[in-house]
Amino acid sequence: MIRNIQDDLYYTGVNDRAKIQFENLWPLPYGVSYNSYLLIDEKTVLFDTVDNHFSGVFFQQLEEALNGRKLDYLVINHMEPDHSGSIAILKRRYPGVQIVGNAWTLSMVGGYYGISDGLLSIKDNDELPLGKHTLKFFLTPMIHWPETMMTYETTTQTLFSGDAFGCFGALDGGIKDTQLNVEKYWDEMIRYYSNIVGKYGVPVQKALTRLQSMEIRTICSTHGPVWTEKENVDRVISIYDRLSKYETENGVVIAYGTMYGHTEAMAEWIAAELSERGVKNIVLHNLAVADPSYVLRDLFKYKGLIVGSPTYNNQLFPKVEALLSQIQLRGIKNRCFGYFGSFTWAGAAVKRLAAFAETSGFDTIAASVEMEQAGFESVKEGISALAQAMAEKLK
Ligand SMILES: Cc1cc2nc3c(=O)[nH]c(=O)nc-3n(C[C@H](O)[C@H](O)[C@H](O)COP(=O)(O)O)c2cc1C
Ligand SMILES: [Fe+2]
Ligand SMILES: [Fe+2]
Repeated sequence: MIRNIQDDLYYTGVNDRAKIQFENLWPLPYGVSYNSYLLIDEKTVLFDTVDNHFSGVFFQQLEEALNGRKLDYLVINHMEPDHSGSIAILKRRYPGVQIVGNAWTLSMVGGYYGISDGLLSIKDNDELPLGKHTLKFFLTPMIHWPETMMTYETTTQTLFSGDAFGCFGALDGGIKDTQLNVEKYWDEMIRYYSNIVGKYGVPVQKALTRLQSMEIRTICSTHGPVWTEKENVDRVISIYDRLSKYETENGVVIAYGTMYGHTEAMAEWIAAELSERGVKNIVLHNLAVADPSYVLRDLFKYKGLIVGSPTYNNQLFPKVEALLSQIQLRGIKNRCFGYFGSFTWAGAAVKRLAAFAETSGFDTIAASVEMEQAGFESVKEGISALAQAMAEKLK
């Protein structure tokens, strides 16, 4: 059944509830949607396509929405295969379609799909009149690919934003925020942002600055609900704004590795000491079982980060090492950092965490705590001091 977003705007996207991990990396407990939209005016315009596994459903919907009209334009906001996967088939089915994109996008369309005719190259701020509606193009490179752009429809003030403002989670029944219980999408938006876009805070800020001059009534992104209520549109933009500035809420993530539970006992102890000092937002992640996408989501949320690791073959526990690299890759800033570790014959974990603390640019808030074997008594003061310093920072 074909659904409307507005009078002349139809939803032609699909839900994927079978994919186990997005990018073969990030789990999808609620699935994911690949959104595509068709605008009908004197000219007809399709915004992005869908993953090619869904071409069958997609073309059926497109035909129904076109209702006998020919397809004039395909606007490509983002050339990643989760949105561009059906372009080659689209071109064969609708050979007269003009493919609209910036120069970088169009070169990728050639590279991936061998298409070299029927291309309409647009530049930043160009406009494309369609009849009652007019499209305006904004190049917003590196959210999170170099060719990304957004398309603004000036009459209805609708922003086709590409991956920006997207989130995980299939669309169960409703398409628009007014038709859905949107509660589950907020955390999925933070997880989407921190894992996929997280590294690109500066380009996101540049894009947001450009959007300030526009009135935005509706956001049609490539994943997740269509946002139409003012309160939600503002919230979506403010989530992206806050995260791209690496701004935080008060709270602490304690991420640790453990083989036999001693490092874990230290983590629990630190958490209890924080709680005694009034800290409520405390999330412990046992890195052996926690999926990194959730750890990163919480890292993007909270101001405090405490990392613990046993010594493992004169190194960090491997999953802790992996987390540090994911933090570094995303250039996460403005965190209060503490760390602890354990060993049996020659400690290395805390040394490596100290090196990380040096290069991370984080504010290291207390001395490290290092435990030999089960020497809990000997680390009592260190643990209290670490918790005390963190609790003070969060006040
Ligand atoms: C495979 C393996 C390698 C280890 N390598 C070291 C090491 O290089 N240096 C050391 O002092 N302890 C080493 N240990 C001992 C652990 O660091 C120690 O038992 C640990 O700190 C206990 O913490 P846990 O109970 O949280 O796992 C190793 C233990 C294992 C199982
Ligand atoms: Fe993407
Ligand atoms: Fe995407």
